[in-house]
Amino acid sequence: MEAIPAFLAKVTAALTQGTLSKITLSKPRSRSTEWRNLYGRLVLIKGEQQLSCTLKYTTRDETRNFSLAAAPAQIEQWLTTDFYNADLFTETEQYMLQINKKGKALLRQQDITPRAALPLEHDHVKQRPLTARPRPYLTALGIAGQDGQILKQGQRKYRQINKYIELIEHLLQEHPLLANARIVDMGSGKGYLTFALYDYLVNEKQLAVKMTGVELRPELVEACNHIAQTHHFDQLEFHAGDIHQYQPAGGIDMLIALHACDTATDEALAKGIRAGADIIVVAPCCHKQVRKAMQPPADLQPILRYGILLERQAELLTDGLRALLLEAQGYRTKVFEFIGTEHTPKNVMITAVKGTTNPQAATEIAQLKQTFGLNRHHLEDLLAE
Ligand SMILES: C[S@@+](CC[C@H](N)C(=O)[O-])C[C@H]1O[C@@H](n2cnc3c(N)ncnc32)[C@H](O)[C@@H]1O
Repeated sequence: MEAIPAFLAKVTAALTQGTLSKITLSKPRSRSTEWRNLYGRLVLIKGEQQLSCTLKYTTRDETRNFSLAAAPAQIEQWLTTDFYNADLFTETEQYMLQINKKGKALLRQQDITPRAALPLEHDHVKQRPLTARPRPYLTALGIAGQDGQILKQGQRKYRQINKYIELIEHLLQEHPLLANARIVDMGSGKGYLTFALYDYLVNEKQLAVKMTGVELRPELVEACNHIAQTHHFDQLEFHAGDIHQYQPAGGIDMLIALHACDTATDEALAKGIRAGADIIVVAPCCHKQVRKAMQPPADLQPILRYGILLERQAELLTDGLRALLLEAQGYRTKVFEFIGTEHTPKNVMITAVKGTTNPQAATEIAQLKQTFGLNRHHLEDLLAE
């Protein structure tokens, strides 16, 4: 195929498959033209994907939007009358079209190195798991605007979502999900992370999963179920109720609880352990139960008389014992910071994967409880029930 039709065929394919990252037209055909170049990207307008093109003039920009059906013909028109060069970037490839003054065209192609491989100082341009195409549910959740672009006030949450997906991605590389895995997100709230994880697993990774969000507040559950249905997230549903009462139909393969308040994290952990979940991911929130129940040793009083340090000590003890209780139940456990404190101060994550039991865990738990004068830990009570 000749270079220009071949290039236009790649554009049409990238538009229809939603893999177009950007398209640029450059090198104006006429010196007198006011246009310098053109930049196009996919956007969502009133629920319809369109190619939004920004024409860069010497002194201003102008934006024009085209339906996916009309866009290739418009690009062809511009290439015939206005520009010599065009570059198409998809998720994995770049196509470079160069037309000379005699009308002879050359098309070259090169693979794009995934940006995730860039060194850390390039973090600001790092490829995020969810960036490649518009995601209408993010608009419904209030993170993106009508044009599909992430809103200023949604940026923080969006960064958290991407970080969280990256982390789950790494975890699943080591411990792949079973086919038709049942995933339960406890304390799902407004569902930001639930929707994003479902979208990532089903639409990016092409995995068959069944996901349930469990949430105390019925109005949030109703709103989330509505969004799931509207966006055809067929295997995602939200259940209104208390984690403690929730009976997972068909079991749990992966349990998630992010920032579930205080002992709700313990309730979720207990449900996951009881159901024999293979993978457990929790990011604890406040730690009131242990703080009230502990009597730290007198030696520590000079530092624990400061409220913030007492709070941190309670956090350490609560989450340390959670990790040990998981190990006592046959899980290999990791505890780490999953995102910088500038994004959320509640940034500790505990991941646990079914493996071998730590034979020392029970003794270590008993010793720690004695040292800190802790008469009860909610997770331990739940597991003893
Ligand atoms: C801080 S929000 C976190 C929401 C979501 N996981 C996230 O990270 O964006 C905690 C949610 O847990 C819910 N929750 C707290 N205790 C619960 C319980 N016992 N059962 C069900 N949901 C609970 C709250 O209503 C709230 O929506």
